[in-house]
Amino acid sequence: MTGITVIGTDGQHKLRAVFGSIAGLFIDKQRNTLYANDDSDDGSIHMFSLNETPPMEIFVGVHLYKPTLIYVDENDVNGPTMYITFPDQHRVVKWAHEAIRGVTILDNCLTCTGVWLDKDKNVYVSETVNHRVIKWSPQTNLTTNVAGQYDESGSDSTHLNDPNCIYVDQMNEGITVADSSDGTAGWNNASLVNPEAVRVDEKTKVFYVVDTYNNRIQRWLPGASEGETIVGGRDETCVDHQNHRFNSGSKNDQLSAPRDLAFDKHGHLYVSDVGNIRVQMFALIDNQPCSSTSTGHCAFGMDTNMQNDLDNELIAKAAVIFKQDIERLLLTKLSYLMPWLTPFLTQLVLCQMALFRGLHKLAPTIFPDVFDKNPRFWLLSRVQQVIDARTTSSAMTKRVDLLQLMLDTNVTQREGIVHETGLNNDEIKANVFLFMVAGFDTTSTIFAYSTYVLATEPEIQEKLQAEIDNKHGKELDYDTVTKMEYMDLFLREVLRMYPASTAAVTRVCNETTTVCGHNIHKGSVIQPDILTVHYNYDLWGPEDPNRFVPERHATKRHSMALLTFGAGPRICIGMRFALMEIKMGLARLLRHYVVLPGAHLEEGFQLRETFVIQPDAVYVKLNKRR
Ligand code: HEM
Repeated sequence: MTGITVIGTDGQHKLRAVFGSIAGLFIDKQRNTLYANDDSDDGSIHMFSLNETPPMEIFVGVHLYKPTLIYVDENDVNGPTMYITFPDQHRVVKWAHEAIRGVTILDNCLTCTGVWLDKDKNVYVSETVNHRVIKWSPQTNLTTNVAGQYDESGSDSTHLNDPNCIYVDQMNEGITVADSSDGTAGWNNASLVNPEAVRVDEKTKVFYVVDTYNNRIQRWLPGASEGETIVGGRDETCVDHQNHRFNSGSKNDQLSAPRDLAFDKHGHLYVSDVGNIRVQMFALIDNQPCSSTSTGHCAFGMDTNMQNDLDNELIAKAAVIFKQDIERLLLTKLSYLMPWLTPFLTQLVLCQMALFRGLHKLAPTIFPDVFDKNPRFWLLSRVQQVIDARTTSSAMTKRVDLLQLMLDTNVTQREGIVHETGLNNDEIKANVFLFMVAGFDTTSTIFAYSTYVLATEPEIQEKLQAEIDNKHGKELDYDTVTKMEYMDLFLREVLRMYPASTAAVTRVCNETTTVCGHNIHKGSVIQPDILTVHYNYDLWGPEDPNRFVPERHATKRHSMALLTFGAGPRICIGMRFALMEIKMGLARLLRHYVVLPGAHLEEGFQLRETFVIQPDAVYVKLNKRR
């Protein structure tokens, strides 16, 4: 995976603070701030706002002797409070919000390196050369040994060997220790060399390990016997066989002696890359599996984080846009029935807009600016911000994605002359808007229908699970998932029985003509009756089209028999993306869970028609697989 340098130098640009050395990292997710320690002799602590691009430095504590790892208590009543270790001075310092210096809370802890707090504000510290982890209670001022044996190293379950960074579960489920000198050193996926830091995703129980001397970051899924590399060391050509480890490097997909890691509120990974004296950011897309998040991120680089943030403004605005679509549906249907009405209806909407604008200009206090609060205009202004960030291009904002392709069509240079062809600003904005809307409810609706089928067809679910389990040990990536044959048949059958977006397929008749004895006039809007086509016995028999039978898709059918994504040159442009999203989501879900009927499922579901035809609710239960 390729990263972006957010602090340090990316080879061309010096980005803000250039450190003498770099060690501990911490991200305050509530305030979106990154803390980074410079652990040189004349070291420092830096705080950056991640709301700015590049991150803006908002605090620095200087002239400190080798501040190493850092924990920030985001929930302290007095504001974010730092806990910093100084291993060479054998002490831990607490640094209150806005204070000009810190206060030593623990001294005489021998080379205390890692630091973390539990939910009761007890401070946990790893004493590296004493091979143990201690806990200090601020209430009693007592220190207790919580892991390892004092001054005894070892590799059995009661000993530690040079413990480094620690992570304390906030549900009080235990401590995870990067035990840097222990285990089987090596470069394969079951081994580590000098792991110096670790984080645990408490919801998913996924471990992220800084495999320092292998110059890589490993991710361990729950129960896995080996990890997978998400950053750094790629294939065997990068192995230093003499020292049994992966080589370091300074390219954007490489690391050199990484020291610590942190995640921001979007699930992006930040790594302190010591050998290159920089902080690298990696956008881990699979930490944000929601369909709208993926569309926004993959196509436009908009980080929406809907999956983790249910109060997200974009979800709220999109919901209103859909609600308005229902209200406008009548208008749209009217224009389909009477195409000659369309110019009149368009003029009506434009006049309404002009009237609102005029009234607001005349008397702003009596008539508020409805456009300012209108979700469509809000979304469009958000899109404009992303475009502005791209067009004032710097190394950090340029990405290879759909938005960039559209922007690149805008100005082309041929034979030294600049041509302004392609899409203009308004067209680009309209396209981004269309993509966001078209990818919003469609994919998630098909996913909902799929879970309904899984819960009501247990044998089919078992077959799917058998196919997924067959790929045991393999990463569920694009290649693996596209090769799943039964998954493909299953999804086609869901799309046949539940074609979510039938109203989207419309065509205007160019010439007056007669089809099967029906006169169709030029300008008429034609909408195929997709449900009748999808349930037609002649097209889909001999198995009863009312039954869910994935195998029927193994037989070749008429090219227009499946119309869920439309057909012809204007077929849904997001089809492959949507299919991949759904298959990936289902494969990952079914690898770990069984979908069971929830309350009222036997009653089926009510359908409602918005932009798509969707179930009002599908009640399922998830049971963890053994
Ligand atoms: C399962 C999910 C989806 C379904 C069922 C679906 C369905 C459709 C349908 C029926 C059409 C009209 C096609 C026609 O007129 O022949 C369409 C068009 C379109 N869809 Fe999708 N769609 C899905 C997902 C997506 C996603 C994820 C995106 C974008 C990321 C997307 C973007 C578009 C766009 C831009 C168009 C207009 C294409 C054009 O007019 O040339 N769709 N979709």
